[in-house]
Amino acid sequence: MRLFIDTANTDHIRQANDLGVICGVTTNPSLIAKEGRDFVEVVKEITEIVDGPISAEVISMDAEGMLKEAEELVKIHKNIVIKIPMCAEGLKAASKMSKKGIKTNVTLIFSAQQALLAARAGATYVSPFVGRLDDVGAHGVELLSEIAEIFALHNIDTQIIAASIRTPKDIVLAAQAGCDIATVPFNTLMKSIEHPLTTQGIERFLKDWESVPKK
Ligand code: E4P
Repeated sequence: MRLFIDTANTDHIRQANDLGVICGVTTNPSLIAKEGRDFVEVVKEITEIVDGPISAEVISMDAEGMLKEAEELVKIHKNIVIKIPMCAEGLKAASKMSKKGIKTNVTLIFSAQQALLAARAGATYVSPFVGRLDDVGAHGVELLSEIAEIFALHNIDTQIIAASIRTPKDIVLAAQAGCDIATVPFNTLMKSIEHPLTTQGIERFLKDWESVPKK
């Protein structure tokens, strides 16, 4: 399973990229709004940091509008993936974009049937949301397993991006469920590096090293 970072904060993207563990970025209108910067300027900067798929979301609610936005966004960089909300117009847009060779990420997936429809419309990626399902008392990870099972069973090559990841454990569960990618917020990514026994182990190695005779 590959890792993307789920943020529009370019400092965080730079730090995560320097770790060498991420190979793509997902943004959404809320993440862009949080940065208080121009959308195109942020997306352009991200493409200069990470050499991999960068999801930029459209905000039109009709397929024609989505397509128009997509045609402008893909001019920014060859790595741009158009993020489309799951809805009837979104499926139409994904289908049209797929025929034009534009890569898409159908987002806000909360059921396996939505994922199947998005895949059949030609989506490059689907983004099932784990955390938001958990928030309403459902089991986000079960959805990941269902989608992974269906895609494997029917040789569907649409890639599954586990989204709305909240904890390091979610990353592990997404990998076990068979997702292709997990898109992870910066804090969760940084937390995943740590383990108290690792910290303790490093401290002990350094302490013991002090007693090694030095020439
Ligand atoms: C997906 O690509 C979304 O940007 C994201 O994962 C949403 O996560 P949230 O539920 O934490 O807002």
